[in-house]
Amino acid sequence: NAQKRPKSSVPMAELHCHLEGTVSPVMAMRLGARHGIDLSDTIDANGQYSWKNFQEFLSAYDRMAAAICTPEDYYDITYDYYSKVAQSGVIYGESFVSPDHALQHGIAYRTLIDSVSAAMKDAERDFGIVCRIILIAVRHYGVEKAEKLADLAHKYPHPFVTGFGMGGDEQFLWPHDFSKAYAMASDAGLGLTAHAGEICGPERIRDTLESLKLSRIGHGVRAIEDDALMAELRDREIILEVCPGSNIALGVYPDLAAHPLRALVDNGLRVTLSSDDPPFFHTHMQQEYEQAQSVHGFKDADLLRFTRTAIEGAFCDADTKEKLL
Ligand code: ADE
Ligand code: ZN
Repeated sequence: NAQKRPKSSVPMAELHCHLEGTVSPVMAMRLGARHGIDLSDTIDANGQYSWKNFQEFLSAYDRMAAAICTPEDYYDITYDYYSKVAQSGVIYGESFVSPDHALQHGIAYRTLIDSVSAAMKDAERDFGIVCRIILIAVRHYGVEKAEKLADLAHKYPHPFVTGFGMGGDEQFLWPHDFSKAYAMASDAGLGLTAHAGEICGPERIRDTLESLKLSRIGHGVRAIEDDALMAELRDREIILEVCPGSNIALGVYPDLAAHPLRALVDNGLRVTLSSDDPPFFHTHMQQEYEQAQSVHGFKDADLLRFTRTAIEGAFCDADTKEKLL
């Protein structure tokens, strides 16, 4: 419970967090009970999300997200997460929001964005945190849905919708299959990011950089395996949304000591810290910052650098950034 934790002395900023993935098992059960949705195959007897590998995680995620049924639910989960992390010291947060999940309950794009942005505004009023939305397409839902999403962003611009990304099964289709969706999103004025090099290796990161004109990569940690790729990431000043706790939970690395966080920074890459899907991965922002200190030896000044890099790479407008920096 972030509310009981003391405020971290270093302000934090989070670029990579899936809104549906912030819902705690307790909250999910409450939503399930509210809407008559059985989550017994998703949450185990100990009250934890149950999955054993990336594919199982993705389906547990889909089943849990199916319990978020109404615009009020979206308001509640958004306000719940951002009011909690604000009290633990997060000053800025970008949230991946998946309109395709909401549409399964007939929640239209604009209704979804209105609910989420209203909660973000209220969290800012109550706790000072600034939040923005990144629309996220799910790779394994296909190219057509991604393009439709980019089109909606174009038709219905909203000041809180500042970015476009894609997650889901990294091995499904190729980055260039989504280049039209990304071009449309860019046309709509959105900042661009994509999950890459989380499950797949450096070749997929390279492919993503070549196919999509993005400024950030979700995860990207496996770039550490390829010096030439790291040079390119450095040259293009690409920002990595690194989520160590997620990588450990998903078995990308056996433990934090084996995680390349320190090596990525030492190679001159622009690194930020995020929690991805905190209750699924038994992590939260404060833990990510604390473990960077205790496991990787980063000092307060280094932690502040993660935060500043996140704000530099944020998709909000320049005035908002300036106030945060
Ligand atoms: N959707 C939610 N969390 C994800 C992750 N860590 N990777 C890919 N897609 C996701
Ligand atoms: Zn993610």
